Amino acid sequence: KKDILNQLPLRGKQVLITAGPTYEAIDPVRFIGNHSSGKMGFEIAKAASNLGAEVTLITGPTHQNIVHNLVTVIPVVSAEEMYNKVHLHYKTADIAILSAAVADYRPKNVSDQKIKKKDSTFTVELEKTKDILKSLGEIKTNQFLIGFALETNNEMENAIGKLKSKNLDLIVLNSLQDKGAGFGVSTNKVTFITSSNTIIENELKSKADVAKDLMQLILKQTHA
Ligand code: CTP
Ligand code: CA
Repeated sequence: KKDILNQLPLRGKQVLITAGPTYEAIDPVRFIGNHSSGKMGFEIAKAASNLGAEVTLITGPTHQNIVHNLVTVIPVVSAEEMYNKVHLHYKTADIAILSAAVADYRPKNVSDQKIKKKDSTFTVELEKTKDILKSLGEIKTNQFLIGFALETNNEMENAIGKLKSKNLDLIVLNSLQDKGAGFGVSTNKVTFITSSNTIIENELKSKADVAKDLMQLILKQTHA
């Protein structure tokens, strides 16, 4: 019996995950997006559910899929939609892992008709989206809150800055320095940084292994 409990240490725990890019509409046929594949977030959902967690996976448009009786997938398109769905599920979450590549800006005005080509240049005015992760840090009660940081320079300093300013318990620094890390590939080079200043550097590994390592660290930090 003890063995079974050890294998499913997150049984009964609610884990909220965001994944993928967001698409911000310009008009009915065009959007601003990014190259996030959603793979990292889906691997985390897999790893968490394999430990017995009840997972809510809120994902922007991706080609990933997951079928697991403990995983509920909620598809969204825009940052605003993702914000709303995340907040619906945050209060009951024990662990929240925000791996989505959320657009930082969106078109200020969305045309309801397809925009016709006209002049030789065309300008779209953008406005900031809501920072979903930061908003969760501000209302955090008992949740263990995890963010990602995608950096190309001053990596450590920037990641630790985000850990603090967003009131996180743990941040996963995603290094784009290395080839074979980041968008569209199935490997990642990450560093885990906790709010108690534990820094764990990892080798380049598969996103599936990064997800497993992350879940093990979360188990340790939450004494689950
Ligand atoms: N994030 C979010 N909502 C946003 C922007 C980011 O929830 N509107 C989350 C991401 O999911 C990630 C973390 O915040 O977990 C950091 O995202 P990142 O893009 O690295 O940092 P930003 O705070 O957006 O700052 P910048 O892009 O300027 O580096
Ligand atoms: Ca950003």
